[in-house]
Amino acid sequence: MKKVLVLIAVLSSFAFAKGAFIYNVKTDLLDEKSKAVVGEIYEGTPVEVVKKDGDLTLIKVKGEQVDGNATALAYKSAPLITFLNITSGEAKSGAKYFVKSSDLSQREYPSWEEVELVYYDTCTSCHAGHHPAEHAMNEWDAYLSAMQYFAKINDAEKARILRFLQAHAKDGIAKEEE
Ligand code: HEC
Repeated sequence: MKKVLVLIAVLSSFAFAKGAFIYNVKTDLLDEKSKAVVGEIYEGTPVEVVKKDGDLTLIKVKGEQVDGNATALAYKSAPLITFLNITSGEAKSGAKYFVKSSDLSQREYPSWEEVELVYYDTCTSCHAGHHPAEHAMNEWDAYLSAMQYFAKINDAEKARILRFLQAHAKDGIAKEEE
């Protein structure tokens, strides 16, 4: 049975567009032509793999544009959680960028593993850890804002934990159980 499953997995990876997940907490997005750094994309984000080119991989990003913030893309525009920011111009769903191949993971779970540890480290000193799926995406925003002072985290740390909590919220985008 196991062999059959492996075979199916191998065959399906040829049959469908390949997906991958951003592995590094902050991964540089490189322009498709000039390969200059034009923005950053965050861990856990699912992307489509277009092609490999040396130690770079061309990826296609999908998301929703954010009202009042043209340079960002979000998993869902409401509630807002951005997974990509570019330094200039307009972030568009379907845009292609190069990233370092080593900044990608084939599987979803490993791409969230580090921030999951950070979350449980940061948020379990006073009470038991709340499982992300206990709350909806927009509730986590409010809870985390209330807890930021308690947990003594800066805005960047808060944004990172919020991405993790929202992605794994009951209406979040993460598919693999963490
Ligand atoms: C310094 C102690 C402390 C730390 C650290 C802390 N909390 Fe809390 N948390 C509390 C206290 C006290 C309450 C209950 C009182 C309140 O709601 O203000 C609470 C309540 C909560 C609740 C509401 C529970 C409910 O069901 O109403 C959530 C969710 C929560 N915390 C999440 C977090 C997260 C996420 C972090 C990490 C960023 C965190 N907490 C870190 C002290 C802390």
